[in-house]
Amino acid sequence: MSTPVCGIDFGTSNSTAGLFTGGTAKLCALEGSENTIPSAIFIDDDSTRSFGRAAVKAYTRGDDGRFMRALKSILGTDLARETTRVGTRQVAFTDILASFIGDIKSHVDAQAGQELTSATIGRPVFFIDGDKEADQNAQNMLEDIVKSTGFQNVTFLPEPLAAAYTYEDTLKKEELALIIDLGGGTSDFSLIRLSPKNKHKENRAEDILSNHGVHIGGTDFDKVLSLMCAMPELGHKGLMRAPFAEKDIEIAPWLFFTLATWPKIHTLYNQKTVRLVEDTLNHALEPDKLERYLNVLEDESGHTLAMKVEETKIALSASDAHHLDMNFVEKGLNVPVSNSQHLKPSLMDSCEALNRTVQETLDDAGVTAEQVSSIFLTGGSTKLPMIRESLLKPFPHAHVVTGDAFGSVGVGLTLHASRYFK
Ligand SMILES: Nc1ncnc2c1ncn2[C@@H]1O[C@H](COP(=O)(O)OP(=O)(O)OP(=O)(O)O)[C@@H](O)[C@H]1O
Ligand SMILES: [Mg+2]
Repeated sequence: MSTPVCGIDFGTSNSTAGLFTGGTAKLCALEGSENTIPSAIFIDDDSTRSFGRAAVKAYTRGDDGRFMRALKSILGTDLARETTRVGTRQVAFTDILASFIGDIKSHVDAQAGQELTSATIGRPVFFIDGDKEADQNAQNMLEDIVKSTGFQNVTFLPEPLAAAYTYEDTLKKEELALIIDLGGGTSDFSLIRLSPKNKHKENRAEDILSNHGVHIGGTDFDKVLSLMCAMPELGHKGLMRAPFAEKDIEIAPWLFFTLATWPKIHTLYNQKTVRLVEDTLNHALEPDKLERYLNVLEDESGHTLAMKVEETKIALSASDAHHLDMNFVEKGLNVPVSNSQHLKPSLMDSCEALNRTVQETLDDAGVTAEQVSSIFLTGGSTKLPMIRESLLKPFPHAHVVTGDAFGSVGVGLTLHASRYFK
């Protein structure tokens, strides 16, 4: 019997892992019977770590400790080389990420009945846009982290190609497919010739016509919606009297941008920021709003806010109006948010950038929209009707296939591992 191999989709928002056994690629249960795990970590003040839904639960019930999510976005950046304070200790991010991936590995190993040593790991087409060196650093950093958990043989595959292989496994004839993977951190695209005949071919280079991607995803949609609807309630765009200036000036926007950015929220939880906000409060024209900001800092409830905004975005993908629940900030604070007035306008710029990236994917391959026979959709953000419709518009004749939004990449990585580590 050959040694089992696995594929790991370490996502910005959710992760999966698959095991190739008995001739098929299957996702593993990573938390109870769930085969997805939120990419979330909670470290309590005694240094005990919890992951996924358990981490979200520990944080939302108010345990003392540090919560982090969307840490994939910091790979390759200076933030990834830093440490964060948990209780009285400083902990390195790379160590935190290793414990999360180590937790995934322990579940896969348990299901395989042995310690796995070989894995295909997913990666966005670009970890970092327009900077090859930083992009390579991000992959190297992830490789070191994965190897530190006990894997010895590691290879990387662009996430949309993994989804392509999952789709290819269902095909009866050749197709020229555009794969669209809209995740939490990045949007990735592959244009590839898929066929049941070629799927076991060792080298697919001539079938892969182009891979492209952009650092825009669901966490960015949360950010713009938060800046539009939640942050103004905490003082964003408010004015303050400046001691030596003639005119009132705007309260430092970075305070609100950072609080609205998933992977950066925890960087605000320190005495320096608290003192700055206290000082600003004394000069603010609307101190009540900034008082709310201070409460969020002191309660470390920035992620609760991010989750409420995300919930609102998801609710608005199915209905036109919703209330952003900010009761945890101040009793009775509910902000009405609608699709037409808030979500749609907030997504406009991202939508344009995504359409441009799809066009570039076609241009890179020298293919026209009419030549694309099918489109395979995966990733949680494909559930947003506005984005989905806008991306599909140039392809009125293509056959549109909606894949498993959260599992297609993990299965494809596992298929790849079974072929690569033969
Ligand atoms: N029904 C929905 N409507 C809108 N967005 C949704 C919906 N369900 C999930 N999402 C969004 O999808 C994103 C997560 O998708 P997914 O799990 O595919 O990302 P990921 O694989 O973790 O990220 P990446 O591939 O970028 O690293 C989140 O931003 C989430 O808010
Ligand atoms: Mg993904």
